[in-house]
Amino acid sequence: MSASQKIISWSELSKHNTMDSLWVAMDGKCYDVTEFIKEHPGGPKPIKYNSGKDATEAFVKVKHSDDAKEWREKFLIGTMEEKKCLAVRILTNPLTLIGIAVPLTAILVWRVYKSRQ
Ligand code: HEM
Repeated sequence: MSASQKIISWSELSKHNTMDSLWVAMDGKCYDVTEFIKEHPGGPKPIKYNSGKDATEAFVKVKHSDDAKEWREKFLIGTMEEKKCLAVRILTNPLTLIGIAVPLTAILVWRVYKSRQ
């Protein structure tokens, strides 16, 4: 499996924000910049600040050169999982499911109890 074929979740990315392991997401890809941070021409701060996050906008704002874009491919470790829209995230959240299942079960139990009286 090539580096770009590995799918990386957003929660996994968020764990890599320490100097021991620095990952940055840009344009749907994930880059391991743990070693590169020491030689980044823009210094360590902007990378440290954006580590564990989606730095697509920050990277574009700086107007990085084409050379910089080519360089970053050396640090490619995977492709970010697709971002789910808010509705899907809410509906698949376990808390939402519990929030629906608990009151429904309570109503059902109440109705069965009432029908037996
Ligand atoms: C693997 C990823 C990255 C690579 C390969 C990279 C590479 C470079 C290079 C080569 C430069 C010199 C200017 C140029 O040629 O564009 C630069 C400058 C800079 N980079 Fe990055 N960079 C990366 C990620 C980031 C990120 C995530 C940020 C966050 C904001 C950032 C912020 C900056 C800043 C602030 C400068 C200085 C710009 C200036 O002095 O005008 N870089 N970077």
